[in-house]
Amino acid sequence: MTNLSVNLNKVALLRNTRNIGIPSVIDAAKTCIKAGAHGITVHPRPDQRHIRTSDVYELAAMLTVEFNIEGNPTPPFMELVRKVKPTQATLVPDAPEAFTSDHGWDLAKDSDYLKPIIQELHDLGVRVSLFMDPDLEQIQRAKEVRADRIELYTEPYATAFRDGNVDQIFPQYALAAQKAQEVGLGINAGHDLNLQNLGKFCSIPGILEVSIGHALTADALEIGLFNAVKAYLNLLPPE
Ligand code: PXP
Repeated sequence: MTNLSVNLNKVALLRNTRNIGIPSVIDAAKTCIKAGAHGITVHPRPDQRHIRTSDVYELAAMLTVEFNIEGNPTPPFMELVRKVKPTQATLVPDAPEAFTSDHGWDLAKDSDYLKPIIQELHDLGVRVSLFMDPDLEQIQRAKEVRADRIELYTEPYATAFRDGNVDQIFPQYALAAQKAQEVGLGINAGHDLNLQNLGKFCSIPGILEVSIGHALTADALEIGLFNAVKAYLNLLPPE
């Protein structure tokens, strides 16, 4: 079964363009849950341009589904995670000024940095997922630093899908997922997944969770948030 975790960053981005609190991130989370979403994801960036620290606390207080917090595990991120203890922390190697996440960890370089962080997250009872490119050697290293899961960075897949040449890159993702399963890592996926490309991606066996924000929010403008969540759920493999 593949779970859907809805990323609410873009709801917050729209909310932040006025000072009157709409659209409400909390109401959006409630609608996603009512529609059957299995989780809520947020990616609070250092400039707070979309999700703010206060959103993270408010969501943590009301959520009845899995809470996934993404980000680079800087001291402020870790402080937030210590207080909130989400279900999952997805660690992402993005620079503070990054436009959006655009690459996975290089664990040949970053393993020593991540190991104590992952240990602390485990001590807090937080599941750890590492944002990764579909690279077999890197996935082996993700196991060695004791991550629980990897989140496959799917933007290159989505770009190839849009350009009509997805068959070239798809086997790389399928092999990466196979490798992750072989070494005992769970598999999540995210970035630029949408109603067109999600079905094919989830034909890869063993995808535990997809986290989707941008396209789902855009679809919600057309068909409403409740219906958009339902439409994405309909594309996911059942149990
Ligand atoms: N995973 C990570 C690590 C991300 O940074 C993002 C974007 O915030 C997503 C998944 C979701 O991507 P999208 O908004 O394109 O669905």
